[in-house]
Amino acid sequence: MSDFISIKKEIKNFNKVISVSGDKSISIRWVLFSSIANGVSEAKNLLMSEDVMAAINLIRKLGIKVKIKKNLCKIYGKGLNGYKYKNNLTLDAKNSGTLGRLILGLLINSTKKIKLIGDKSLSKRDFKRISTPLSKFGVKFKHKNKFGLPLVIQGIKNPKPIFYKENRGSAQCKSSIIFAGMRTQGKTIIKAKKSRNHTELLCKYLKIPLKIENKKKFDLIEIKKVNKIKSIRYKIPSDISSAAFFIVLVALSKKSSVKIKNVNINPSRTGVIKILKRMGIIINFEKRKIYKGEPIADICVKSPKIIKSINCPSNLNSEAIDEFLIIFLVAARANGTSYFKGLSELNKKESPRLDWAFKILKLMGIKTFKTNNSIKIIGNPKLKIKKNIIIKNFLKDHRVFMTCVIAALSFGGKWKICDKDSIKTSFPSFLKVISDLQK
Ligand code: S3P
Repeated sequence: MSDFISIKKEIKNFNKVISVSGDKSISIRWVLFSSIANGVSEAKNLLMSEDVMAAINLIRKLGIKVKIKKNLCKIYGKGLNGYKYKNNLTLDAKNSGTLGRLILGLLINSTKKIKLIGDKSLSKRDFKRISTPLSKFGVKFKHKNKFGLPLVIQGIKNPKPIFYKENRGSAQCKSSIIFAGMRTQGKTIIKAKKSRNHTELLCKYLKIPLKIENKKKFDLIEIKKVNKIKSIRYKIPSDISSAAFFIVLVALSKKSSVKIKNVNINPSRTGVIKILKRMGIIINFEKRKIYKGEPIADICVKSPKIIKSINCPSNLNSEAIDEFLIIFLVAARANGTSYFKGLSELNKKESPRLDWAFKILKLMGIKTFKTNNSIKIIGNPKLKIKKNIIIKNFLKDHRVFMTCVIAALSFGGKWKICDKDSIKTSFPSFLKVISDLQK
């Protein structure tokens, strides 16, 4: 089967109720927490994507049993010291930055050397941001190249607690240190720039000794040694990062509406909603509830009359970090010039996404200016693409692929978008949900 998609027609208006798949960040965290819990943990609606399967296969290699039956996943945790560290162990995080970075925090008590590998995209990403703080615990690292994968980690029996300033707003970095802090005698303190807080919420639910002081720009997190974690039953809510593609599809259509059921609306993830509302998109939450500390709601979206440009405040960057590609498409249709700044992290994702946004918008005929951390987009509310556009060689970045599909369905033109299989990373049913909208 061909691994590309051709799109030659814009999507017609639609009014639908849809569901998107389980949240990736929460799914991976549930797998990792369950692997160190005591007893059997169960999750429903776990995201069955390649990133989450990589997490499951990785803990299996550490000696943890996992059973998957239809919509139910069971993990037979063996406690905090239950991992089996075999000689010459190699763990593969595939495409997942979250998995590759979080697992290192859990491996700091292995005195045997463990090799961590990943695919082409992950191998290019920065792992120094993890090996630097974990080295302070007394852990040794060897990187194949200066900062990426493969790397070799060698932990120690009695890691020392640390104080660390996390300045990037990286939840992956913060979470890895929290996991490591659970394995030391004494208090580990992290002064962390605000970022998604699923790890902290799970700790709180599990009654793990974690204290948080919320300051305006950062959180002070204190974590102590953990002796036992209870097993976790969890019904994973839908992923706002997957929902975002459909929110934008409606934002860019003339007269559509969509209700996306049961989505995680944790305020550390809703930057996309805040930004799009400022741009004039009509978005409401219905049936709000709290589930194990995580806010959840149905997201209702209606096509706007006009789209306003935005000078996007950079304090929303961390909470919208995975949605900027798709937000830029809304800016392309806006009335006026939009400006997004402080986005150097965007070029450190599965592909250099700021560079890709620039290339795609240029191909679409949108005037765009870029520096290494900002982008200015001159919106064109009347844009109708007439030409052929081919998108390839983007390191199989799932979000680049899905963004281009939404662009093709919204702006016209004849698109050939390669590496269709990339959706398996985070949202395997993406194209099925799109085709259901047209039925
Ligand atoms: C994630 C954190 C973010 C995000 C990624 C998922 C997580 O990365 O981009 O897709 O689950 O912790 P950073 O923490 O590196 O910003």
